[in-house]
Amino acid sequence: MSETNTTAELHYSPFSRAVFDDPYPVYRRLRDEAPVYRDPEDRWWVLSRYADIAAALRDWQTFSSRLGPAPENPDDNGRKYSIISMDPPKHDRIRSVLKGFFTPKAVAAMDATLRRVVTTHLDRLEPGTTFDAMTAFAFSIPTDVIGDLLGVPERDREQLRVWWEAFLTREESSVTMPPEAIAANREISSYIGDLIEQRRTSPGDDLISIVLGAGYDDPDLGRCELTPHEVLMFCNLLSAAGSETTQKLISNGLVALSEHPDQWNRIVADPSLIPAAVNEALRYDTPSHWVARTLTRPVELHGVTMAAGDWVLLLLGSANRDERRYVDPDRFVLDRSGGADVYFGWGIHICLGQWLARREAALVFEYLAARHPRFTIGARERTLTATVRGYTSVEMTLG
Ligand code: HEM
Repeated sequence: MSETNTTAELHYSPFSRAVFDDPYPVYRRLRDEAPVYRDPEDRWWVLSRYADIAAALRDWQTFSSRLGPAPENPDDNGRKYSIISMDPPKHDRIRSVLKGFFTPKAVAAMDATLRRVVTTHLDRLEPGTTFDAMTAFAFSIPTDVIGDLLGVPERDREQLRVWWEAFLTREESSVTMPPEAIAANREISSYIGDLIEQRRTSPGDDLISIVLGAGYDDPDLGRCELTPHEVLMFCNLLSAAGSETTQKLISNGLVALSEHPDQWNRIVADPSLIPAAVNEALRYDTPSHWVARTLTRPVELHGVTMAAGDWVLLLLGSANRDERRYVDPDRFVLDRSGGADVYFGWGIHICLGQWLARREAALVFEYLAARHPRFTIGARERTLTATVRGYTSVEMTLG
């Protein structure tokens, strides 16, 4: 029986293909019927209401990241995944290395470069043609932006993207990482490790050189540099986080806008609505569907007690559609007032690259609204991936 059938037993798995294809009906049932849901195989709890998730994201002392942002491949205080799987004080020290680099002001200063990347890819599109939007521009724009920042040679960027896609790909119903994902992770570390070694001897003005040269103040040890392993993990994280999710934001946003032509027409008539459209794309079909935490103490919520040490999945994708928080949440509308939305997480781990990702998507929407306002979207495909949800191909036709 379908997992979205309302008379069926409620069953949620983050690694189910059916859920991945359309998670929103099961999210609604979780919010209504089981806001503290226990995985049938007893592996984790699932929180799905906006208020519970927003509170958990703020309370890092209780909802710890130390074992990683996903239970499938637990970490140990940032050994594998850098700051995304650390708690303070270590988290704050390493994150502070790039403090100022991704602020709204810093991203505004990159605008000419970002616009050049977007224009280079979109200028190739011909009116009246049909193509795959992912290979035509949605893969390459974020890959080039983060590639430029990290100093990844152009010839290697597509290979790096393919490895990251393999790293995130999962098999139906299987929690363990497939061997291809583990192998891809090894390739990425080896590749980024080589780049780091090159920058050690000939530094530039790229992010890798900045991370290599940066330090932080430790109250006991004084001025510290990042260890070679910390540099590697931080650069790995930036290379993945900088591209995979933004690819999904651009394509999920274009699909949503094509399905809401009234809203797209408003953007075409008034491009000042584009920042609101990007935020609504993040809310309506969020690229990062869940993050995980482990409990440092027992927590009672909605009459259920979760034990210390338990894993808890925070369904950001469900929080963004919670009718307790958003009016008419299943509609894409440009007039929401915004506020503490959780599509980039919240609290100490809130996405470091949020302003960069927003600006990349805004520039794509801006270009299309100005040059190709009559586009249509056809067939599309997804690959089952961990935490990140979006398309691997999207047929697009320009009018
Ligand atoms: C639409 C695009 C993006 C989405 C939806 C997204 C989503 C997220 C989310 C939900 C988190 C929080 C994870 C947690 O709480 O466990 C996060 C953290 C992070 N993101 Fe993003 N991200 C995006 C783009 C980017 C970009 C472009 C970069 C880099 C340039 C980036 C770098 C990071 C880093 C370094 C962290 C870890 C922050 C920390 O743990 O303190 N992200 N992102």
